[in-house]
Amino acid sequence: METIIEIKNLSKDYETGFWRKKKVRALDDLTLSVESGQIFGFLGGNGAGKTTTIKILMSLLFSTSGSAKILGHDISDVKMHREIGYCPENPYFYDYLTARELMDYFGEIFGIDGPKRREKTAELLTKVGLDEKDWNKQLRKFSKGMLQRVGLAQSLINDPKVVFLDEPMSGLDPMGRREIRDLIARLRENGTTVFMSTHILSDVEALCDEVAILRGGKLAATGKLHDLLASGGEAISFEINATGLLVEALGNHVGRITEKASGLSIEVSSEKEIDVAIQSIRAAGGKLLSVQPIKQSLEELFVEKTK
Ligand SMILES: Nc1ncnc2c1ncn2[C@@H]1O[C@H](COP(=O)(O)OP(=O)(O)OP(=O)(O)O)[C@@H](O)[C@H]1O
Ligand SMILES: [Mg+2]
Repeated sequence: METIIEIKNLSKDYETGFWRKKKVRALDDLTLSVESGQIFGFLGGNGAGKTTTIKILMSLLFSTSGSAKILGHDISDVKMHREIGYCPENPYFYDYLTARELMDYFGEIFGIDGPKRREKTAELLTKVGLDEKDWNKQLRKFSKGMLQRVGLAQSLINDPKVVFLDEPMSGLDPMGRREIRDLIARLRENGTTVFMSTHILSDVEALCDEVAILRGGKLAATGKLHDLLASGGEAISFEINATGLLVEALGNHVGRITEKASGLSIEVSSEKEIDVAIQSIRAAGGKLLSVQPIKQSLEELFVEKTK
């Protein structure tokens, strides 16, 4: 594994007000690294500093202090930027270009020759699910979701080793989200590292290997999603087909019992309770329908870390 992104003590103050005297600390001493071959979720509430971080990494903004490297090169290294892709938060491009022209334009910037550009354009616009009849339409006539798709296609024109996506799912309908989700998953299969900011936690759960959660410009949590969510202890939930009789039999022996349409759900939190629960269920002639470890949901984690 290779470190693809390395952020060290990055801070950013925006200077605001008429004399630019007021300072707003948008990013506060962020240190973070991202390894190759994964989809990294960059999370945080509105105004947490996600876009600011990504813009600094893209050299579109200067940091107040700290440093960052992408693919082993300092972010000021122009050559490195040929090997990365970027889809901004609100991809508003040149309104009067068509989708095809926009792709051609970016392809040219990356020094890709004509025939190859046309080939890549068709391949990518198809991949992001943009209807061929819209390829020659001006972008000003595009819906938000269509623009998002073109933005994503644009960010992949140079076959980047790492791609930075700022809210790639925003503005997409459920079908579109699914398509883009699949596309992002395929990028990882092909060895592209993905760094994406998003608010949509179900997408994070479905896609991301590791995450970082920002709060007020500071790092609130980072790690493998699996590890972050597993910290709920040994809690287990049983579902059994049962009636009132079993409720009595289980009585005070075990944790929390709730009635469900299919039977009972029992939540226990220690090994001893697990044993007692299983014995009582057997003794009362109940049938186990499912046994599941209880994990903290990403939403709970998110709320806890961004409070
Ligand atoms: N150009 C600017 N001038 C002054 N303050 C700014 C500027 N851009 C962002 N900020 C402030 O910096 C902070 C971080 O903003 P940023 O856009 O990075 O957040 P974000 O995590 O991307 O939020 P969102 O989820 O809403 O996109 C906010 O407090 C915001 O008001
Ligand atoms: Mg943002």
